[in-house]
Amino acid sequence: MEFTRKNRQLLSRIATNDRHGENSPYFDGWKAYDSNPFHPIHNPDGVIQMGLAENPLCFDLIEKWIRENPDASICTAEGLDKFKDIAIYQDYHGLREFREAVAKFMGRVGGNRVTFDPNRIVMSGGATGANETAMFCLADPGDAFLVPSPYYAGFARDLRWRTGVEIVPVHCKSSNNFRITRAALEEAYEKAQRSNINIKGVIITNPSNPLGTVLDKETLRSLVSFVTDKKIHLVSDEIYAATVFSSPRFISVAEVMQDMDCNRDLIHIVYSLSKDMGFPGFRVGIVYSFNDDVTNCARKMSSFGLVSSQTQFLLASMLSDDEFVGNFLRESSKRLAKRHHVFTKGLEEVGISTIKSNAGLFFWMDMRPLLKEQTTKAETELWRVIINKVKLNVSPGSSFLCSEPGWFRVCFANMDDKTVEVALDRIREFVLQGKEENNHEADKSQARAQRWRKQNLRLSFSSSRLYDESLMSPHMISPHSPIPHSPLVRART
Ligand SMILES: Cc1ncc(COP(=O)(O)O)c(C=O)c1O
Repeated sequence: MEFTRKNRQLLSRIATNDRHGENSPYFDGWKAYDSNPFHPIHNPDGVIQMGLAENPLCFDLIEKWIRENPDASICTAEGLDKFKDIAIYQDYHGLREFREAVAKFMGRVGGNRVTFDPNRIVMSGGATGANETAMFCLADPGDAFLVPSPYYAGFARDLRWRTGVEIVPVHCKSSNNFRITRAALEEAYEKAQRSNINIKGVIITNPSNPLGTVLDKETLRSLVSFVTDKKIHLVSDEIYAATVFSSPRFISVAEVMQDMDCNRDLIHIVYSLSKDMGFPGFRVGIVYSFNDDVTNCARKMSSFGLVSSQTQFLLASMLSDDEFVGNFLRESSKRLAKRHHVFTKGLEEVGISTIKSNAGLFFWMDMRPLLKEQTTKAETELWRVIINKVKLNVSPGSSFLCSEPGWFRVCFANMDDKTVEVALDRIREFVLQGKEENNHEADKSQARAQRWRKQNLRLSFSSSRLYDESLMSPHMISPHSPIPHSPLVRART
């Protein structure tokens, strides 16, 4: 039966366009994992999920606290007397105790160098909802935000899909550890101006997803100056603020703007408990704006993504337990540091390097020496080998709009210690097997060359070498040096 008139589609264009970004390799990797998930006993050859930035490393501490505080839940015998008050409609502002506890927590995560005002805490469905709300408040369809790349793959959906806002990448380079420079910002801004794109702001992640690095004071000041000069907005997504596990410390944009001559109305923070506490299922997202109009506007919109009052009630109690929070944050950093060390050290031993990082639930792995050629196509080929043969779901740099091929994001917190060992074994085997195959190839080519040299003494052997051991030591390679085809990939595809 025909439900539509000619030229009219059944569903809305906005719902059916492909701006959700789900056709990127980032999500393909998840599909590969979903269809064949690793299990140590039932499916030991399955795909290990290393594309998911989840943080369950301190769940034992949370569980202990919940057991010791049964009255913090309205669904226990101890907390049931609060049920009637909490289960009914709540003010869109949220429970006062919740806003106070979250504001205090955000301050603590920033080292108590800034005080956050509970009256500016606006709730949303995770940082996903908070980022979208920020876009709704700050930009019209067709307007654009500058986003330093590589950037969080979900931005393609969260910032653009329902808002009609565009993303203009600011290409950052490995030569300076993907630093966000004023020059790169200006270049992207000017280019957009020339194409008649109306830039409404810049959105950053600090600590960075996918780099796992924190922004230093100088970079933050330069960003604040940039948006002040251009009269555009700065949204700082600080969802990983408490995942910093070694120095330098996390610096919130709220801290740097305190002693700067800037327009506070242009600065907005997005926060969430999905990473720092490991609660993505609770969908606690926050828009914190220094602009009263934005706060009011976001609050009106929060009715589309309120945090359940049951969750607010529980968290109000948990986050206002200072001793618990202090212990949790200390222990969480310790465990993240340990896990990060095990992984990056294991990779280093087989010659794989990573960007030096100290935050986040992932690191940024340099696989450029293994690319056949320095192209996105070669990166995708390598990624397919890693996912289909090595059975690890790591995410290729292209899905983070990285301008240089060969980088991969590896999540390290969402698995147990034994799975870490399996993942590392697989990587070691992959790299070492590649080396052996290449040595074998090199031996064969050496023999060929010797035969050839006998025939023609003028020929230089070095030019016919297929594989150079130094290529397996990425630290030695300049990000800009042309790297020959990787026989390792060739052998495996
Ligand atoms: C930088 C960044 N922003 C936002 C989100 C979405 O977070 P939430 O689960 O709170 O919606 C993520 C999730 O990975 C993220 O990495």
